[in-house]
Amino acid sequence: MEADIDRILISDKELATRVKQMATEIAQAYAAPEGLVLVTILSGSIIFLADLIRQLPIKMKIGLITVSSYPGSSTESQGAKLLSDLNVDITGRDVLIIDDILDTGNTLRFVRAKLEEKNPRSVKTAVLLRKPSKAPKDVTADFVGFQIDDVFVIGYGLDFDDHYRNLPHIGVLKTEVYESAAS
Ligand code: IMP
Ligand code: MG
Repeated sequence: MEADIDRILISDKELATRVKQMATEIAQAYAAPEGLVLVTILSGSIIFLADLIRQLPIKMKIGLITVSSYPGSSTESQGAKLLSDLNVDITGRDVLIIDDILDTGNTLRFVRAKLEEKNPRSVKTAVLLRKPSKAPKDVTADFVGFQIDDVFVIGYGLDFDDHYRNLPHIGVLKTEVYESAAS
C-alpha cells in the first residue's frame, strides 16, 4: 500500500489534532443541539466520523447514507448516485452532514437535497478535506478540516477503487497506479 503513495500529505498526528479542533468548533456551534443527527456519507467518511464523534461531548445520533460518485477505478466525479437511503428519521432534527472530501460538490449538493425533502430543522456540513473549489458557490461546507491541492488522495477512509481506506494518513496516490488501472 505505502509503495503506491507518492508522498504523505497529512500525517496521522496532524489528522488527530485537527479533527479534535473540529469537534470543538462543532460542539460550540451546537451548544444546545435539538436532536443532532450526524448524517455520514459512506464509505469514505467512516474513519473521520469515528475519530470526530469520540471528541464530541454532545448528545447525538448517527445516520448513514450511501452515495457513489467515483465508481470503480475512476478519479473523476461521475455525478452522485444514491446506493442506500438514510436509516434514521431526521424530521425536525438538526442535521450535520459528514463527508470525507468536497471536490466538485456533486455529492454534497445531492445529499443535501435528499435530506431537505425529509424536513429537518437545520442542515450544515462538515468535510475533512476540501480541494480548490471546483464546487459552485451554492455548495459550501460549514466546517472544513484541511484545504488541499487538486491531487488524488487516499487513506484515512478515502479510497481508490475501494482500496487504501485503512492507511492511517492521507497520501497522494502515484499517478502510475491510476493510469495503469485505467488502461
Ligand atoms: P464531489 O462529489 O466531486 O464533491 O466528490 C466528493 C466525493 O468524491 C467524496 O466523497 C469522495 O468519495 C470522492 N473523492 C473526491 N476526491 C477524492 C480524492 O482525491 N480521493 C478519493 N476520493 C475522492
Ligand atoms: Mg469514494
